[in-house]
Amino acid sequence: MDTQMTMTAAAFEADFAYDRPALLARRNAKWRQYDPDVIPAFVADMDFRVAPAIQAAIRASVDAEDYGYPMRDGKKADRAVLEAFAHRMKGLYGWEAQADLSMAIADLVQATFASVMAFTQPGDGVIVQVPNYPPFRAAVNDTGRSFVPMPMKPEGDGYVFDLDQLAATMPPSTRMLILCNPQNPTGRVFSRAELQAVLAFAQKHDLLVLSDEIHSDLIYAGNTHLPFAALGPAAEARTITLNSATKSFNIPGLRTAVINFGTEALKARFERHFPARVVGSVNSLGIDATVAAWQDSSDWLCGLIAHLSAMRDHVYTRITRDIPMIRMKKPEATYLTWLDCSDLGLSGTAFDFFHTHARIGFSPGENFLPGAERLVRLNFATSRVIIDEMIDRMAEAVQRNTR
Ligand SMILES: Cc1ncc(COP(=O)(O)O)c(C=O)c1O
Repeated sequence: MDTQMTMTAAAFEADFAYDRPALLARRNAKWRQYDPDVIPAFVADMDFRVAPAIQAAIRASVDAEDYGYPMRDGKKADRAVLEAFAHRMKGLYGWEAQADLSMAIADLVQATFASVMAFTQPGDGVIVQVPNYPPFRAAVNDTGRSFVPMPMKPEGDGYVFDLDQLAATMPPSTRMLILCNPQNPTGRVFSRAELQAVLAFAQKHDLLVLSDEIHSDLIYAGNTHLPFAALGPAAEARTITLNSATKSFNIPGLRTAVINFGTEALKARFERHFPARVVGSVNSLGIDATVAAWQDSSDWLCGLIAHLSAMRDHVYTRITRDIPMIRMKKPEATYLTWLDCSDLGLSGTAFDFFHTHARIGFSPGENFLPGAERLVRLNFATSRVIIDEMIDRMAEAVQRNTR
């Protein structure tokens, strides 16, 4: 693993941020969904070039036309991702995420749906923190399970949850808790004490915990990520962990993720529903890119976090100064921020207002929480110049169109 951790925010932006023409020339969903005059700030994709080690790993396969059934180090290639994940979890958190207890899978949404289907029955309750990443709601509702909300309430500088209230409101058939840590869209990073309280709750009510940790590399100073399963054997016995390099290293199109089962019994239970042959194996470019991300890209990641941290502070400073009626709490992780526009007195949704009057494509709040039409989620993983243009346009639209 590389050890250099030196790249500054300015160096990262200069070397890796795409400008607007380059972004418009790309074929990704973020810059293709809306008309070219719209600044997209929705899907969790970043406007940055990938780490050099990732590009080199992919280029090596392309140059060699190496597209056969892949092997790496004498083993089936998926194993390389599982071992890289285990190595990373051990190095960062001291957690033994054994490769034998993991499977490579195309993406976290697939893994979420499969886990809900494998570990619960139709009609069972599944707890989801709300507001939530929209596919969690779909994984519960579309599979005939019962959605049990766990509200993240705004309090002070962040958001908190109340397990006593959850216990009082959840149905007795509740079997699973989907934990999103760091949480999308609030940006919370849960403390050890909070995670321990969730574990005690899960033990008391005999719940499995499906822990989505896809944003765990994007943590800002003052916060510490702890994988839920790393709390110890009692947690591992009831935890399925999902992670990938796709959010933090900007490679979601390469379709490579990891599902880790805390015990052999959990893995066997999953495989009874979805044998490895049904899950399938992941593609060789995704495997090489993920290994390069996790093992050889720490300098790039360090620069990325420095830049994102500066952009988070910049967005906060500008919004509180120029559009103080919008309420924002600084996220502790992720490049996403949840903006409460209720005080603007809008007649329609906040998404429609900014799309129409500012030509910005946010994520609509109601996708994360029914009734949250006056909120939007903003993605600030872009250059300072694009962020400034976005906030200038927002401030102008608010000034022109609200009283
Ligand atoms: C919390 C969370 N989980 C999962 C995903 C999507 O992951 P994938 O592309 O692997 O399905 C996202 C994407 O933004 C996310 O924010």
